Amino acid sequence: MTQELAPTLSDQPAAQSAHSAGWWRDAVIYQVYVRSFADSDGDGIGDLRGARERLPYLADLGVDAVWLTPFYASPQADGGYDVADYRAVDPLFGDLSDADDLVREAHRLGLRIIVDIVPNHTSDQHVWFQAALAGGPGVPERELYHFRPGKGVDGELPPNDWESVFGGPAWTRTADGDWYLHLFAPAQPDLNWENPAVREEFESVLRFWLDLGVDGFRIDVAHGMIKAAGLPDLGVREQAKLIGAQVLPFFDQDGVHEIHRSWRRLLDSYEGERIGVAEAWAPSAERLALYVRPDELHQAFNFQFLTCAWGAEAMRKVIDESLTATASVGAPTTWVLSNHDVVRHTTRYGGKDTGLRRARAAALLTLALPGSTYVYQGEELGLPEVEDLPDAVRQDPAFFRGDGQDGMRDGCRVPLPWSGTTAPYGFGTGGSWLPQPDSWKDLSAQAQTGDPRSTLELYRSALALRRELPGLGDGGMEWLDGPEGVLVFARPGLVCTLNTLAAEVELPVPGRPVLATAALEFTGRAVRIPRETCVWWAV
Ligand code: NOJ
Repeated sequence: MTQELAPTLSDQPAAQSAHSAGWWRDAVIYQVYVRSFADSDGDGIGDLRGARERLPYLADLGVDAVWLTPFYASPQADGGYDVADYRAVDPLFGDLSDADDLVREAHRLGLRIIVDIVPNHTSDQHVWFQAALAGGPGVPERELYHFRPGKGVDGELPPNDWESVFGGPAWTRTADGDWYLHLFAPAQPDLNWENPAVREEFESVLRFWLDLGVDGFRIDVAHGMIKAAGLPDLGVREQAKLIGAQVLPFFDQDGVHEIHRSWRRLLDSYEGERIGVAEAWAPSAERLALYVRPDELHQAFNFQFLTCAWGAEAMRKVIDESLTATASVGAPTTWVLSNHDVVRHTTRYGGKDTGLRRARAAALLTLALPGSTYVYQGEELGLPEVEDLPDAVRQDPAFFRGDGQDGMRDGCRVPLPWSGTTAPYGFGTGGSWLPQPDSWKDLSAQAQTGDPRSTLELYRSALALRRELPGLGDGGMEWLDGPEGVLVFARPGLVCTLNTLAAEVELPVPGRPVLATAALEFTGRAVRIPRETCVWWAV
């Protein structure tokens, strides 16, 4: 008998099931890459009003919170991660009242809102940097950044040998001969966090957004603000990876933890459990766990899981290492498969049918694991990376400077298909800033809604079940025996099986199937699980 599993759509509004105390320990948080989510004014670029209008879709999907990528005033040299004014909304995305409306509407729907904060660097158009440049060597504003004289006879060589994450030297020389440090693009000068004025300013910026009602911050480059004393040479040519585990004198320095502790005190001084999530690239699960000690941040993205190759042994190892490390500090693990900086996981896992099959299975796996999960916009539609963007439309600074970080990040940032059969597929009325493939007409939210085999309905069912089944979310798990290539683990009342193999496997039926990424075949007391399939069983 072949059994097609009906989606169990939740009839509970998000407001009723959103957790209160410790809500972040098992929250499902949806990442909105604002410029590619929904465009309300027809300029081809997503905006805050567009995002607000689509909030009911996210509440219906069943997520608990939404993380918005930077929408602040910015020359957009790095998709808004170059902020010129941390208290203003860029006109591309709307204005402050749009931000206010979005937060209010999200709360009305029972969704929390997390915004991005970019403390490692500002835009070169920020008033501080402009004053530092205009004032010349020795002005106090230069102490807000890392300005240094160069090496060589005339200071013509950079102060040290560090390379920028986007390729090329991490230093740029100014007209007056001084150099300034930028771990990313030259338009993103690094702030000097040893200067108390920088710390004070950021506390004030955090308060500004907390007062507006946001529920927390995703902290960009949370491991980068403190540089090793004396800015020592590396001694070797090594370009820092955007998502990497290298040990470098400008990443994961112990001094960053004091900043996070002070931010935690600030977050805790507000009502309603406001949170901080670290975008930190640490060399090991143990080093990453330091960011989520009880007096530091609430969550840290588990990039070791994101970068793990498909396969039972490797995945089990990362899961074990992550859970052990975070448990040692009493924190949950924060699972993530994709974001706006990496090739979409359908493509990373092999692309086409194989990639989609594995991506769906990986989604069910992560949603069954203990902890919190982030969902990157479009993964619920099973979107692949757009790999054939013409050079002329690309905007990622890494494309212009580097040797190709993570496959050039524009391919995962193509605007979402919502409805209809021609581009921009309901994204807006005026086109889209990156071209959408013709094949996306079949992947739109509208095309997938109501089709029980679609990836969208799979996510809806999984998120509904996460709320219904008390054993999912925060808590413990136990590995059970399974054949080679098959992961089997138990949560209270639930068993999850993941067949990672490219061949079907037969198992004794572990329980009552509640959700599966492919049709199962039952023969007496056994079940045949197709290749690369994940199943949740009620026990
Ligand atoms: C990480 C962000 O996710 C990425 O998009 C950005 O380029 C760098 N930080 C620099 O801000």
